[in-house]
Amino acid sequence: MKHCGTQRLETDRLVLRRFVDGDAAAMYKNWASDKEVAKFLMWQPHSSQEVSQSVLEDWLNRYSDDSYYNWAIVPKKNGDEPIGSITVVNMNEKISMVHIGYCIGKKWWHKGITSEALKAVMDYLFDVADVNRIESRHDPRNPNSGKVMQKCGMKYEGTLRAADWNNMGICDACYYALLKEERRNSIV
Ligand SMILES: CC(C)(COP(=O)(O)OP(=O)(O)OC[C@H]1O[C@@H](n2cnc3c(N)ncnc32)[C@H](O)[C@@H]1OP(=O)(O)O)[C@@H](O)C(=O)NCCC(=O)NCCS
Repeated sequence: MKHCGTQRLETDRLVLRRFVDGDAAAMYKNWASDKEVAKFLMWQPHSSQEVSQSVLEDWLNRYSDDSYYNWAIVPKKNGDEPIGSITVVNMNEKISMVHIGYCIGKKWWHKGITSEALKAVMDYLFDVADVNRIESRHDPRNPNSGKVMQKCGMKYEGTLRAADWNNMGICDACYYALLKEERRNSIV
């Protein structure tokens, strides 16, 4: 892999940028305080903006590391206000693999936003960071997340039983991935 850090990316409707000091209010309001957003995630909904601020500060500190990839998802129509995040949550350098996680606020669900963001991030990770395998996983009770993976050309690889956990408890994990060599023509 050729680490290049969290660089600004742009799509038709979105800017994907680093989080900045000052994003805590939007983070709290737009997604992090919502228990429905966090239902299938591993973090608790934020109980106050101070919690968002503290999470944000941790993220900002990590941007000095070129192997840290964490984008704020900002619709161009939303000023400069983030509505969610898309992040490399796990990495295996030996096999040039990254594992991606994402979430956006409920108000923006089912508008194609996460699929648009994931496509851009996958292009960047394959083309610039020289990643060989991009994977993600979801709880089968959260099928829309799997639909995002499918829309971005990832292939279903199987479901591991009771292999993961989130705020709903221990769960099965549906795995999807795309390899660099099979990427061409696979993105729908
Ligand atoms: C899962 C999540 C990221 C999906 O994001 P999104 O921006 O709504 O996804 P998209 O609009 O790109 O939708 C992709 C596909 O999912 C399906 N889908 C998404 N939301 C749907 C809804 N509310 N009802 C029915 N289908 C839906 C559709 O098939 C859609 O494709 P289509 O628009 O061509 O029909 C979003 O719901 C979310 O942030 N949830 C909370 C956090 C989370 O669960 N993250 C994933 C953890 S694994």
